[in-house]
Amino acid sequence: MRLTDEERSMLQGDRGKGVRKAMEIVVALGTIYDANDLVPVSHVQVSGVSYKNLGDAGLEFLREWAAQGARVRVPTTLNPAGMDLRHWRELGFPADFAAQQQAVLDAFTAMGIEATCTCTPYLVGYAPKLGDHIAWGESSAISYANSILGARTNREGGPGALAAAIVGRTARYGLHLDENRIPTHFVDVRCPVRSSSDWSALGYLVGKRVANGVPYLRSLDPAMCTPTNLKPFGAAMAASGAVALYHIEDATPEAENVKFPISNLKSQIMVESLDEGYAALNPQSPISIDLVWVGCPHASLEEIEQIADRLEGKRVRSELWITAAHQVRDEAESRGLLARIEGAGGRVVSDTCLVVAPVETLGFRSMATNSGKGAFYGPSHAHVATHFGSLEQCLEAAIRGEWT
Ligand code: F3S
Repeated sequence: MRLTDEERSMLQGDRGKGVRKAMEIVVALGTIYDANDLVPVSHVQVSGVSYKNLGDAGLEFLREWAAQGARVRVPTTLNPAGMDLRHWRELGFPADFAAQQQAVLDAFTAMGIEATCTCTPYLVGYAPKLGDHIAWGESSAISYANSILGARTNREGGPGALAAAIVGRTARYGLHLDENRIPTHFVDVRCPVRSSSDWSALGYLVGKRVANGVPYLRSLDPAMCTPTNLKPFGAAMAASGAVALYHIEDATPEAENVKFPISNLKSQIMVESLDEGYAALNPQSPISIDLVWVGCPHASLEEIEQIADRLEGKRVRSELWITAAHQVRDEAESRGLLARIEGAGGRVVSDTCLVVAPVETLGFRSMATNSGKGAFYGPSHAHVATHFGSLEQCLEAAIRGEWT
């Protein structure tokens, strides 16, 4: 692999142990994936932030790296942590967990990372532009950046992304290269796709069928391809099939660059109904609901406003959590939306989500969500019986306290 003088000097340890370790990781990844060189990145999103997943070994690893002088060279933000950083007590998070989680964040911030703690950095001032090279962890954000914004990132793991932040570069392979952004599958969608849960169900189905591929979707109504709809769509596809990039005819920025015919096309897929997606994400029989969770990926202000409107004059019986970035929550508060949601008994919870929080300590046994990714991981990561449906169904379940 070709390295510049500066990169070689970092690898030799001229900038200290922490930088050398980061460069060793970046170069090792580049060697594994046969990269010719490294590419500078403009932003890094680090995943693997929750103490629930990191444990003491992960915390120690981060502390040691910070103590070795590792500091990020480019703007770097964090994925959700295991708790709401400001309101963890009132939400019932255990104090010992909170202390360890705070220690994880202290290690990250010591390296110069901003504790945004959201999976939607693009909603809080970190939206890369078309063609920007970035190094992002968090599968839903990766899908959003590659597909909707036209930026370029591979699916970075936690240490890989952190290493890229410390050296300001990543290895140039995979989705950083034009040839790997060409579609591998055509998907014809022959059924209506309207609500965000429809988009989640479609994302689940497409992900299952094109696993690791680059789908090119046709026959979708471009007017329905809004960021609000595509956010859960990409998240579900990334969860069910590790899809990091998709194109939609007449809707996403790189679709018009696709040249036909495509020689490496693996198959053409027809989607005539979303029923199979809804059924797979919603396998439970009717149950009472402890928690309704909306905001996976983290909710935008527009989504929070929509929920406040739908709850007007209503009162929820189950817990209702709308997860969002703390910056978005603050904005919702200043616009009076928070008071309206809390007036109906709901909460806007920041910095975390049900997949990375220690849900077993919070007492929830059953959950309803309008997110395909949330429903996909609910049973395995949050250990809760999970229902999946539209936002209306979920809010109705919160009001009744049961899924009907
Ligand atoms: Fe974000 Fe958690 Fe969903 S990280 S995409 S809210 S599983």
